Amino acid sequence: MNTEKLGKSRLMNFLARLGGIAMESRLRHLLFDPVATLRDAGLKPGQTVLEVGCGTGFFTLPAARILGNSGHLIAMDPLTDYVKRVREKLDAAGLQNVNVIQRDALHTGLENNSLDLALLLGVLPYPGLPLNQLLPEMHRVLKPTGKMGVWLFPVTGLVPGAITRSGFFSQVSRKNRTYVFESARR
Ligand SMILES: C[S@@+](CC[C@H](N)C(=O)[O-])C[C@H]1O[C@@H](n2cnc3c(N)ncnc32)[C@H](O)[C@@H]1O
Repeated sequence: MNTEKLGKSRLMNFLARLGGIAMESRLRHLLFDPVATLRDAGLKPGQTVLEVGCGTGFFTLPAARILGNSGHLIAMDPLTDYVKRVREKLDAAGLQNVNVIQRDALHTGLENNSLDLALLLGVLPYPGLPLNQLLPEMHRVLKPTGKMGVWLFPVTGLVPGAITRSGFFSQVSRKNRTYVFESARR
């Protein structure tokens, strides 16, 4: 099924609604500080940033606040319900520096060399985001100086090694479950 169909599928959106309850739970906010993870992932005021798989916006709103008026966030997710919910939350919070785009991050449609940072937070490993397609796309849209911040939860698994072995990125830092990568080839 292509992403457009997937995004509109009733079953996927129903399942996403259940997943959204966990993503937005109070317990999650008690256990995880999104601001600390965003800073560990390399987020700074004024950057142009892509968030892959924004879900219900656990990281999106804090990221928008850190970026400030001089920064810009593109929050991307294929699922209709998530996109709608994140837009509503941003409107309610009065945050205007975010574009929420319903799209498959394997084909972002963004310009070459246009981003300072790509955020992959809680989205890897994920069946809809195979690394062999995702990493070339992230490499294409990041500036030569751009970084990729990856928060691995619940499992770290083989992901960091697989990213390095891809040849597109090399690891520059790690703090707990948050890894930062830079482009390895240009
Ligand atoms: C486990 S959720 C994490 C959501 C959010 N990052 C969080 O931590 O709350 C994974 C998200 O990735 C999204 N996703 C799956 N395949 C995707 C794709 N090809 N492009 C963009 N997002 C995708 C899903 O719809 C879902 O919102």
